[in-house]
Amino acid sequence: MSDSENPLDALYTEGAVTDTATLYDDWAERYEADLKSIGYAAADRCAAALAAADPGLTSPVVDLGCGTGLSGEALRAAGFAEIDGYDFSEGMLALARTKKCYRQIISTDLSQPNAVPDKGYRHAAMVGVLHHTHAPPEAISSALSLLPAGGCVVFTLNDETLRFPEYTDYIADLVKAGTVDIVSEEYGPHLPARNVGAKVIVLRKRR
Ligand SMILES: C[S@@+](CC[C@H](N)C(=O)[O-])C[C@H]1O[C@@H](n2cnc3c(N)ncnc32)[C@H](O)[C@@H]1O
Repeated sequence: MSDSENPLDALYTEGAVTDTATLYDDWAERYEADLKSIGYAAADRCAAALAAADPGLTSPVVDLGCGTGLSGEALRAAGFAEIDGYDFSEGMLALARTKKCYRQIISTDLSQPNAVPDKGYRHAAMVGVLHHTHAPPEAISSALSLLPAGGCVVFTLNDETLRFPEYTDYIADLVKAGTVDIVSEEYGPHLPARNVGAKVIVLRKRR
């Protein structure tokens, strides 16, 4: 990847990304600087929303698509004590392993069935992960399957993902089926300097 190429342009252009893990492997060293320079807000917003849903800050939390660890660091700063990170980009995971916020870091592809083992997680986070080139709507159910009744999953649906009704339709079906309650849903900044927003949604598992 040349210095002038910005992977964000590809991620916000339908059909431009064919190999997501390789895109992140190539981006890993620049990822945090690139996102921070445009005001990356989603990780802090998700951590705050999850802490508001569970003021007891019950752990452990599973950080699905943890990347280099920005979401884990935000969860840790919000007060969650035990966090495990999962991702399929070895480049991103290598940097996450240098962070102090994770109990364990594991390589896995979230689009595959049973990608994450049952480790008694209380809550799940998917920050920047629900996207047509990343993880499908069904990843929400996979995350919920790891949690007990009362556990929460927090995630972003950014402007690009919101163009695809599959994600919001899937959530509506989960609510209709009585599987989850919507604890909070707020549209706000994601990458403010690029004028990109995201919904941060917290769902609580009913059964
Ligand atoms: C936008 S980054 C977000 C990283 C981190 N959560 C954050 O807040 O900075 C998306 C991450 O999801 C990972 N990812 C995307 N699709 C995945 C999949 N199917 N399985 C595992 N990880 C995936 C990517 O490798 C990348 O690290």
